Amino acid sequence: GQSLRALAQRSGLRIGTAINTDQLGSNARYDEIAASQFSSVTPENVMKWDAIEPQRGKFDYAAADELIRFAKQHHQLVRGHTLVWYNQLPQWLTDIGPSLTTKQATAILKQHIFDEMTHFKGRIWQWDVVNEAFNEDGTLRDNLWLQKIGPSYIEKAFRWAHQADPKALLFYNDYNIEYGGPKQDGAYALVKGLVKKGVPIDGVGFQTHLDTQYDIPDLRTTMQRFAKLGLKTAETEVDVRTTLPVTSVELSAQKAGYSETLQACLLVKACISYTVWGFGDAFSWIPGVFPGEGAADIYDEHLVAKPEYTSLQTVLRTA
Ligand code: G3I
Repeated sequence: GQSLRALAQRSGLRIGTAINTDQLGSNARYDEIAASQFSSVTPENVMKWDAIEPQRGKFDYAAADELIRFAKQHHQLVRGHTLVWYNQLPQWLTDIGPSLTTKQATAILKQHIFDEMTHFKGRIWQWDVVNEAFNEDGTLRDNLWLQKIGPSYIEKAFRWAHQADPKALLFYNDYNIEYGGPKQDGAYALVKGLVKKGVPIDGVGFQTHLDTQYDIPDLRTTMQRFAKLGLKTAETEVDVRTTLPVTSVELSAQKAGYSETLQACLLVKACISYTVWGFGDAFSWIPGVFPGEGAADIYDEHLVAKPEYTSLQTVLRTA
């Protein structure tokens, strides 16, 4: 059959994957799939703050640069992930965090955005500028930036990001905003306010980490809601976990999870990319975080394509 990327190209859609840079360059089968099946890539970890600035003022871009080289070689676009997040902060920052003044925290965050975006300038298609800023109840998540700068840290981050790399598409990215409810409403109110104020935001990323025990979200309706604000949308981290071993009813639900979410992106004009959060069950983050669950990806532990892969192919073929 034809590759996902070849099929997606006919619809003008970028189909992406998160990349585990431990595998890249050391696992030939991994490289082969990454290159042949996808037209965009997202670093799973190596552009996060702890990875690029392990010691204050000492930068390590090696792994991310290697991924960018790979992407260029294979004519892939890169989603930058992620600049402002409560998680995977460097230890030095966690250590000094509580003692920072507003002014110091603001300067550190601004410096970080300029350092990282300047390094990658012109090579990133979409940046996840702010990641996971909301609680489930729709209030802003408690983090260092909210504590030290206040809610305006979000707007500031987008303004600095636009100054640092004016051509990159700037995204707000979150999970569980695929479903209607307070968290989606919180994110909607935020981005609506940003748009109204003229803050440079281009899109909203819906992570789309699904589990077969819950509904498949109506992403067509959801993404249209955000698109009406003039924003682009993307599905940024799709996977569909289930309890192990996988029964056939669970497998059907997984296939439906992948195909319905891809269909939604194809049906919404504003949706510019569909990205799976890794493509091999052996490398998935799921078993480490949800014990007893897994099999969330479109290739199995041996990097053999699963029925979920075929479901994506079928949707693209009929698009
Ligand atoms: O790099 C260290 C290594 O030095 C150490 O020896 C090892 C021991 O545990 O840990 C390594 O760090 C791990 C890191 O991945 C890199 O492999 C962390 O423990 C581990 O927690 C971390 O997990 C990542 C997780 O984000 C952290 O929150 C997952 O790989 C990554 O898939 C996941 O991705 C997130 C997105 O960024 C945002 N949305 C949700 C998504 C899933 O949680």
